[in-house]
This record gives sequence, C-alpha cells and structure tokens, in this order.
Amino acid sequence: MNTSSTQGIPDTGAVPRHVAIIMDGNGRWATKRFLPRVAGHKRGVESVREAVRACGERGVEYLTLFAFSSENWRRPEEEVSVLMQLFVMVLEQEVAKLDAAGVRLKVVGDLSRFDAKLLELIRRGEAKTAHNTKLTLTICANYGGRWDIMQATHAMLRANPALAAGFTEQDLEPYLSMGYAPEPDLFIRTGGEQRVSNFLIWQLAYTELYFTDTFWPDFDGRALDEAIASYRRRERRFGQTSEQVRERGRAVTPVPETHAAAPATRVDA
Ligand code: IPE
Ligand code: IPE
Ligand code: MG
Repeated sequence: MNTSSTQGIPDTGAVPRHVAIIMDGNGRWATKRFLPRVAGHKRGVESVREAVRACGERGVEYLTLFAFSSENWRRPEEEVSVLMQLFVMVLEQEVAKLDAAGVRLKVVGDLSRFDAKLLELIRRGEAKTAHNTKLTLTICANYGGRWDIMQATHAMLRANPALAAGFTEQDLEPYLSMGYAPEPDLFIRTGGEQRVSNFLIWQLAYTELYFTDTFWPDFDGRALDEAIASYRRRERRFGQTSEQVRERGRAVTPVPETHAAAPATRVDA
C-alpha cells in the first residue's frame, strides 16, 4: 500500500527513506574522453553498483533509478540497441549478487516494447529477489510519468468501473507503478540539467530536488553522501509554516475543505 510522504513530515536530519535518481551525463562523460557514447553507459553500470551498495550501507530503504525513458526510443537505433544489450547483461550478471546483498529488484515502466528474453530476465530477477527486505531497487525502464498516470487511471477504472463517476488521489495511488513504495524523499539528477524529464511526476510532488554537474559515471559514494547531507539540512514543510512544523510535531494538518468561513486577513496590513 502506498504510504504517501505527504501524510506525515519526516524528521529534519533523517536519512531519506527513498532516493530517486536520473542517471544523466553518460554520453557527455564519454565524449569528453573521445570515446563513443555507449562507453559512458557501460561505465555508468559501475556507478549503479556503487549507488546500490552505498544506499544499503546508509540505511536508504528504496533506491529508484531512471534507466530508460519512454522518450529515449528517439535516440539512434544503435544506441538504443546497446542500452538493451547492457540491460540484459546486467540482469544476467547482477541478480545473484543483488539477492546475496538482500536487495529486492523491481522493474517498472511500459515493458510491452521489450523483447521476450529481456522480459523473462526481468520476471526471473524480480521473483528471485522478491523476499528481500534490506533495500528495494527499482529500475524505471521505458518509463514515463505521464504514461504511469494514464496506465494507473485505466487499471483503476478496469478494476472498479463505478469510479468513473469520480475518484480520489487515494483511489488512484495503489495503481501507480510504484504503489508499493513511499514517495521519494530525495530526487537527484546528475549531469547538470535541471529538469524532471517525465520521471516520477506524480510522486515527486513534495520531493526535495538536488542537481549536480557530476556526470553519472563519476557519481560515487562520496557524491551520494553530499546529496544526502544537503537533504538532511533541509526543513520539509508540506505547505505548513516553519513554526507549525517545529511546534506541532510532524503530522500534516489536513487541508480545510472550504475556505469560505475563514476570517479575512489583510495581506497589506
Ligand atoms: C543518461 O545519460 C543515460 C540514458 C538516458 C540512458 P545520457 O545518455 O543522456 O548522457 P548525456 O546526457 O547525453 O550526456
Ligand atoms: C533522462 O535523461 C532519462 C534517463 C536518465 C534514463 P535524458 O538525457 O534522456 O533526458 P533529456 O532528454 O535530456 O531531458
Ligand atoms: Mg542525457
């Protein structure tokens, strides 16, 4: 069941429960070294290993990595093909190690465009690691935030046609592809761009954003620590004032149904 972060405010200074990363800058990392772009993707796999290890050590419970967006099919055919081969190779080589480290693997996205071999590896990887509890590693593959909201809406209405008359956020959330996880506390994008690129657009509503110029292949445990340290210095307020957060504890006050009866406050007073 989805435990929305917006139901309660995590303590300032706490380690983020859920870290979501746009692993960007592989191509530029390679180009800077006069290497083909795919060399950057290959080196990026090292950083994935490092991020999984470091998150496990630091007590992060959910790590979500954007590996391939629904828009990345627009890339040259050869690059897409190498990325798919890399995905197959990583699944073949890493699942046993992930399992030994207590990591539960999930792959989310529109998997219908992947070939049978990749689908079978994903299915087997998820099944083999399903019982693990140390860290949930989610790979977003052929994922798009808008696709997710649309597929969730369709799935919810298929399961419960009466909701066509009207539904709530809570009705929809279990059908989002990451309905098993709390919303991300910390979003990291490497590679210098400051955009969300159709990642978890629903779930990022109140996530703390962190951007770094470091290219993904250079992103190591220390870089992750810097991101986590930045997160821990922030006060999350979810619409409340700083005083409310500090004085009234961390339960979020429900948003009033109507503001009609609220006494008028002069903003120019
Ligand atoms: C991110 O690195 C990896 C994928 C999108 C698969 P890029 O390939 O986007 O690297 P840049 O942004 O071109 O440097
Ligand atoms: C976002 O990176 C997707 C992944 C990291 C998988 P892109 O490099 O594709 O993003 P844009 O197109 O520059 O926004
Ligand atoms: Mg990029």
